Amino acid sequence: MNVTIFGTGYVGLVTGACLAEMGNRVVCVDVDEDKVRRLKQGEVPIFEPGLEPLVHRHAADGLLEFTTDPGPAVIRADLIFIAVGTPPDEDGSADLRYVLAVARTIGRHLQHYSVIVDKSTVPVGTADRVREAIQAELQVRSAEISFDVVSNPEFLKEGNAVVDCLRPDRIVIGSSSARAVEVLRKLYAPFNRNHDRMVVMDERSAELTKYAANAMLATKISFMNEVANIAERVGADVELVRKGIGSDPRIGYDFIYPGAGYGGSCFPKDVQALLRTATAEGYDARLLHAVETVNQSQKERLFQILSRHFQGDLKGRCIAVWGLAFKPNTDDMREAPSRTLLAALWQAGATVRAYDPEAMDEARRIWGERADLQLCASADEAVQGADALVIVTEWKVFRSPDFTRLRQALAAGVIVDGRNLYAPEVVEQAGLAYYGIGRGRSLAVSA
Ligand code: UDX
Repeated sequence: MNVTIFGTGYVGLVTGACLAEMGNRVVCVDVDEDKVRRLKQGEVPIFEPGLEPLVHRHAADGLLEFTTDPGPAVIRADLIFIAVGTPPDEDGSADLRYVLAVARTIGRHLQHYSVIVDKSTVPVGTADRVREAIQAELQVRSAEISFDVVSNPEFLKEGNAVVDCLRPDRIVIGSSSARAVEVLRKLYAPFNRNHDRMVVMDERSAELTKYAANAMLATKISFMNEVANIAERVGADVELVRKGIGSDPRIGYDFIYPGAGYGGSCFPKDVQALLRTATAEGYDARLLHAVETVNQSQKERLFQILSRHFQGDLKGRCIAVWGLAFKPNTDDMREAPSRTLLAALWQAGATVRAYDPEAMDEARRIWGERADLQLCASADEAVQGADALVIVTEWKVFRSPDFTRLRQALAAGVIVDGRNLYAPEVVEQAGLAYYGIGRGRSLAVSA
């Protein structure tokens, strides 16, 4: 099929590459000329396992093209995906400016029936607004062309996006048009091989499904962070509690890892947007408020632990930080807990030596050159001459360090394990002070 995708960001590029992999002819459109130029030269702007080979393969066999010219891309398409960003507005609701601009562009160029697919995470009711925007442009041209707008939310996880896209656990299609559903069935047939993964519903339910999924996952995380904070106070180890509750299949082992708070481009934004939607409808979503509040304070935990250990005086201290990305296997630092930690450390007069396996360029872009930040070439280099080490992101390379060497490197001999990677007794045997999240041994809780 001929597919056109607006937006070559995370979702657009992964979707485009995966649809090309299934034999579709895909054109990706972006307004950013420099990005399109680089993509044409085979440069993939994001780090995502498995994406680059797909892009290269299908740029070479002609199935995947990039352009800044929307007209021909709209005219050729059986399906048009909208996968542009929906950044949060000042009040936290999703900004639809880019989505509606694409809708108008489609309306200006449409020549024949097409299915327009909302792939961006958009508030409930957006499909109607996209339809109206296209219709308004068609009216300007006095063109009578039928089209359908479908909501098909994305469930990609960064770091695993290509696999998630090629082997989805569900394909949610929101459409009240049988014709559009048939087109999507055909498109997704190769993704559906073993059993039908398509869940068809109305547009609004599909739009809410995306928010509900992310809000549910964020709720699990905030819930566990809350249990961790209670565990510290009652002298329990949340890691044992986690295993104890995860064995109940109704709860499950996934997404109950306490830590430094959730970050990334989705959870913080989507929880807030759903809150705004509820508020706009006159409903006070108390649980979502709590999920958000718990997460904000959890992001401050790592600093609090350090501050308590050094009795409120971090001035002149040097802190090593392992992991800057919001999670492993990505260079993405949006809403990353590392940012909250570093800001607080600098505020307190400490300096930072940081290392991340992928996010160093991103860190340089965000913070630039500053006297109180040393971006180091390795995990080893980061700890040299530091007082304490904080693990913020659970990259595999941080999982089994040589604690004896760490004891020699760290002047004050402190490890703050923000992801509960280590066995406290092993760390302590090396003569280091250990603080985890929600582990009874933590001395970091105020009386
Ligand atoms: C998420 C959803 O998982 C995905 O389905 C959706 O399409 C987009 O949002 P992503 O933001 O890439 O994906 O990351 P995810 O792996 O879900 O992690 C989100 C955050 O939660 C990370 O900061 C992670 O460290 C944190 N997390 C996750 C925990 O703190 N504990 C857990 O148990 C799981």
